[in-house]
Amino acid sequence: MISPNDVMRKNLKMVHGYPMVYAFAHNWERIERFRSRPDDIVIATYPKSGTTWISEILDMVLNGGDVEKCKRDVISAKVPMLEMAVPGISMSGLEQLEKNPSPRIVKTHLPTDLLPKSFWENNCKIIYLARNAKDVAVSFYHFDLMNNLHPLPGTWEEYLEKFMTGNVAYGSWFNHVKNWWKKKEEYPILFLYYEDMKENPKEEIKKIARYLEKDLNDEILDRIIHHTSFEVMKDNPLLNYTHLPNAVMDHSKSPFMRKGIIGDWKNYFTVAQNEKFDALYKKEMSGTTLQFCTEICNLKKEEMTHSF
Ligand code: A3P
Repeated sequence: MISPNDVMRKNLKMVHGYPMVYAFAHNWERIERFRSRPDDIVIATYPKSGTTWISEILDMVLNGGDVEKCKRDVISAKVPMLEMAVPGISMSGLEQLEKNPSPRIVKTHLPTDLLPKSFWENNCKIIYLARNAKDVAVSFYHFDLMNNLHPLPGTWEEYLEKFMTGNVAYGSWFNHVKNWWKKKEEYPILFLYYEDMKENPKEEIKKIARYLEKDLNDEILDRIIHHTSFEVMKDNPLLNYTHLPNAVMDHSKSPFMRKGIIGDWKNYFTVAQNEKFDALYKKEMSGTTLQFCTEICNLKKEEMTHSF
């Protein structure tokens, strides 16, 4: 029997060329064999891109903005993470998904080529949420400090090197966003940005509602915006991940709901680190039309190359 201690702070394990959280990497066929339901809705993200935020937004949209219905369970049960499996601690993502009624919301951080084929075959709706790389790196560093399922991050300097070379869970941020963006050419993915959600949540929630063919009036939209604001989610024990045992997430090291802002990277990147990162960014992103804001940019609508 594997015990929780056997999977804590372990090195990442390669799965089909991607560094994977050690606890999730065993018996990978269980993920490959996953049978989706045609009305499953997938939320795909690179870690720390606002997955929990959009998960609760989606649950609210599906429940017509009914806050009481959305209090029915903790977020990890309402929106299970497909690949999650921690022996002896909680139900696996697959077990939880099996139990959930349709339409299910399925959360995953998997890159396009590891997503179970069944989702593509069933034409499931897929929403990809992307966040700028610099804020993701800072958020991921703090997450690795508090999440014992991940290897210890080391110093910020050491961690940033690992992030830049893709030696972190789920591999390179660059490949993740580029491949999901490319997939959009052949599959109707709703591609959203964390920064847009911060700057204009109403517009982004409307896009989600439209994609899911839901009609929401202004009052419901405002209720969703309030209930899913950072301040409200931070204090909601069903959403802030304090329901997990301390052995898994230690919020005294860094809270899961940390800052929820655009541009916190400026408090961490040195000038030299920023220059090195920008050079790598330019190289990695040269062949893509993807564009990110790394600070509050208030782009005018007509300038937004990535609007839906
Ligand atoms: P920070 O560490 O920068 O604060 P994920 O859910 O993908 O793990 O992403 C976590 C990040 O999203 C954290 O970022 C967290 O604070 C932020 N976040 C969670 N809920 C949010 C909300 N309602 N609004 C804005 N950011 C939110």
